[in-house]
Amino acid sequence: MPDNIYLPELARITYIKEEVPGERAIKTFRVEPLNGDSFEHECGQCAMLSAFGRGEMMISIASSPLVKEYKQFSIMRVGRVSAAFHDLAVGDVVGIRGPYGNSFPVDDWRGRNLYFIGGGCGLAPIWPVITTAVAQRDNFKNITVFYGGRSPRDIMYKAELEKLRGVADVHLSVDKAEDGWDAYCGFVPANVMDKEPSSDNAIAITCGPPIMIKYVIQNLSQLGFADEQIYTTLENKMKCGLGKCGRCNVGKDYVCVKGPVYSWAELKNLPEEY
Ligand SMILES: Cc1cc2nc3c(=O)[nH]c(=O)nc-3n(C[C@H](O)[C@H](O)[C@H](O)COP(=O)(O)OP(=O)(O)OC[C@H]3O[C@@H](n4cnc5c(N)ncnc54)[C@H](O)[C@@H]3O)c2cc1C
Ligand code: FES
Repeated sequence: MPDNIYLPELARITYIKEEVPGERAIKTFRVEPLNGDSFEHECGQCAMLSAFGRGEMMISIASSPLVKEYKQFSIMRVGRVSAAFHDLAVGDVVGIRGPYGNSFPVDDWRGRNLYFIGGGCGLAPIWPVITTAVAQRDNFKNITVFYGGRSPRDIMYKAELEKLRGVADVHLSVDKAEDGWDAYCGFVPANVMDKEPSSDNAIAITCGPPIMIKYVIQNLSQLGFADEQIYTTLENKMKCGLGKCGRCNVGKDYVCVKGPVYSWAELKNLPEEY
C-alpha cells in the first residue's frame, strides 16, 4: 500500500479491442504495470482507472486472477473519462489503483452448477468468474452462460463466448430479431425462463442493466432459486473507492468496501438505493 492511498500505479496499455461499435461503444483494454509488479485481485473486484488530465473511473477487473501478466477492463463510452480511454492507443500510459471491494465466493461454490446471466456491458464484471471456473473446470458441475445484447452488433466477447461452447452451455440472445441471427430473440430474463435452469445445487450470478437484473431475479425466484443462491454486483457511482467520500452508499453500506458483490439475500435487506 503506497503512503498516499489515492496515488495510482502507472500501467501501459498493451492491447485494445473494439467489442461493440456505436454511440455506447465498448472497448476492451489490457494493461501491464510499468514496474512489472501489480496488485493481485479476486473475482469481482474493481480498480480505479485514470486517464491523465481527464479524471478517474471505477471499472471491474474483467480478467481472471489466474492471469498474472495483465489486467483486462471492458469500458463503455459514456462520459468524460471513458471517452478519454476510447481515444487512447496501445503503448499509452494510464493510472490504476486498487483492488477495491469484496469478491464472489467462488471457492464456496465448488461442486455446484453455475449459471451466469449477463446483459450488455454486464458480462465484463462476471467474466473473471466464468474464466476462473472454466480454468478450474473439475471443481464445478455444469457451467451455463446466458448473455444478451440489444442486437448482434452489441454482443461483446463474441469469439470468447464461442470458444466456451465446448466446456459450458452458452445461450445467447438479442432483444429484437435480425437477419442472420438464429439464436434466441427476446430479453435475457425471458431466455432464462425459456430454458428453465434447475435450482438444484445451483448458484446464479447476474450482472447487467438494473431492469434486467430485477426481472432475472424475479424469474430465478419463480424457478425455485433461494435468495442465497443468487448473486449480483452493483455499479453505484463511486469517487474514492476507499470508503471515505460517501458517494456510493446503499443504506449504511459503502458499496466500494462492503460490495460490489451481494447475494440477493443480503441485497433485499438494504434500501433500494442502487
Ligand atoms: C463497481 C463498479 C464497476 C464498474 N464496472 C464497469 C465496467 O466494467 N465497465 C464500464 O464501462 N463501466 C463500469 N462501471 C461504470 C463506470 O464507473 C462509469 O460509467 C463511469 O462513471 C464512467 O466515467 P465517465 O467519466 O466516462 O462518465 P461520467 O461522466 O461519470 O458519466 C457519464 C454518464 O453516465 C452516468 N453514470 C456514471 N456512472 C454511473 C454509474 N455507476 N451507474 C449509472 N450511471 C452512471 C452519469 O450520470 C452520466 O450520465 C463500473 C462502476 C462501478 C461502481
Ligand atoms: S466511493 Fe467513496 S465511499 Fe465509496
